[in-house]
Amino acid sequence: MSENENHEQSTVSVIGLGQMGTRLAQAFLTAGYATTVWNRSPAKAEALAAQGAVRAATVEEAVAASPLVVVCLPDYATVSGLLGPVAPRLRGRALVNLTSGTPEEAAGMAGWAAGHGADYLDGAAMSGTRLVGRPEALFVLSGSPDAFATHRTVLTSLGNPVHLGADPALAPVYDTALFGMAWGALAGFYHAVALVGTAGVDPAAFAAVATEHMPFVTSLMADHSRQIEDGDFPDDDGTVDVHAAAMEHLLDASRAGGLGTDVPELVRNLLRRTAATGHGSSGIASVAGTITKGGRNA
Ligand SMILES: NC(=O)c1ccc[n+]([C@@H]2O[C@H](COP(=O)([O-])OP(=O)(O)OC[C@H]3O[C@@H](n4cnc5c(N)ncnc54)[C@H](OP(=O)(O)O)[C@@H]3O)[C@@H](O)[C@H]2O)c1
Repeated sequence: MSENENHEQSTVSVIGLGQMGTRLAQAFLTAGYATTVWNRSPAKAEALAAQGAVRAATVEEAVAASPLVVVCLPDYATVSGLLGPVAPRLRGRALVNLTSGTPEEAAGMAGWAAGHGADYLDGAAMSGTRLVGRPEALFVLSGSPDAFATHRTVLTSLGNPVHLGADPALAPVYDTALFGMAWGALAGFYHAVALVGTAGVDPAAFAAVATEHMPFVTSLMADHSRQIEDGDFPDDDGTVDVHAAAMEHLLDASRAGGLGTDVPELVRNLLRRTAATGHGSSGIASVAGTITKGGRNA
């Protein structure tokens, strides 16, 4: 078979049918796209085959089946190990790698794919597995703008695919940044649940009110990002000193309730360090400078 006679039979191939890969394949199938699947343990393809997926017998068959090849495996070494021997088959196709990794790995994989004539998009699923296939499931992607433009409609069956730019390293950078941000919010939530628990409030009742509060919190991000860019921190949302004092109240209440103080201490320390650099009367977004400069900013 010549390189051009690849007998494509599907719109998309999914390689790796773990928790995430299975959900990806299901979403493509649900959206009505002809989907070829491959997994090391063939049993995991059975339910998908019942849903209409074509089962490839080999990785090579899976790659050759579609112009769009999506891989979702534990790490980049596994991706390289599987795709390396079939690299010539990638020519003219788009490879979308939704495996978690580092910016360096993404850049390396993009270079490798380009060397084999493939367009490359690195990406990350940001909304776990449960939301995959729903419009609110965020996927960050970066790399070939052409591949994104060509396959955007198909990728939209996964959720909300956002192209961050041509640099393939951007997707893993956003992946880790968003992961850390979500954990910051969740750590605050877990502490808050513990605190209201000392007053007999159950977690679900608190979660309902906390959810109402989140639009205000997210509304600060646009303003504060502008302030960080400008290096100018008006005190519209309170000063560092005012927030540091409020954080001491949270610490006192937490201690009084016999709770761990890891979360408020982290924030209190950031505010203290920021105040110590002369930003006590600045707006709270000036904390960003303390982080950027490792706490040594002037
Ligand atoms: N699950 C999530 O909620 C989530 C969310 C965001 C991102 N991710 C990322 O998605 C990627 C996949 O995660 P997952 O949760 O789907 O993992 P998983 O459930 O553990 O599945 C791993 C998959 O990789 C395959 N595999 C492992 N080693 C292999 C090898 N040497 N050769 C061939 N296939 C191999 C497994 O095949 P077998 O079935 O044969 O074992 C399985 O299909 C990871 O990078 C993860 O960080 C996952």
